Amino acid sequence: MNYLGFRNEEIKPVVNELNKLLSNYHIYYQNLRNFHWNIKGENFFDLHNQFEELYNDARLKIDEIAERILTLRHRPISRFSEYLEVGSVVESEMLEQDREMVLTILENHQILIENLRSVIERAGKVNDEGTIDMAGSFLENLEKKSWMLDAWTARASKSVEV
Ligand SMILES: [Fe+2]
Repeated sequence: MNYLGFRNEEIKPVVNELNKLLSNYHIYYQNLRNFHWNIKGENFFDLHNQFEELYNDARLKIDEIAERILTLRHRPISRFSEYLEVGSVVESEMLEQDREMVLTILENHQILIENLRSVIERAGKVNDEGTIDMAGSFLENLEKKSWMLDAWTARASKSVEV
């Protein structure tokens, strides 16, 4: 039992999912910076700012995930090479089109959302309400952002047709 009352073998699966989430968020963060820097075209101002808002948000969440792992008395993965090994978000190529960038971020969100649902499922098995609470708020936030980005792609495709 640790000081929170969790046995190591019961909390380890939660920590593994959290470390996966930490890895995925780091790669997602870097994809956002890539797009923030390399965005071009008529949507520059909108998306340059939007990507910045998203990566600033991801930066805060990265720290919260790592500190949750530490609170559970485990070590957060701290090396980029390991993030790339453990994470399933793909490090993006250099993209030219703003639409491709938004679609890539939406795909990244899908992976993060699945990962968050696994965190909640694992944490639920050991009544780790602290982790459930954190992951639940991240999930709600990502779902809302995904709706907004999805709405943006719908508008963009319509204006292409016209
Ligand atoms: Fe900037």
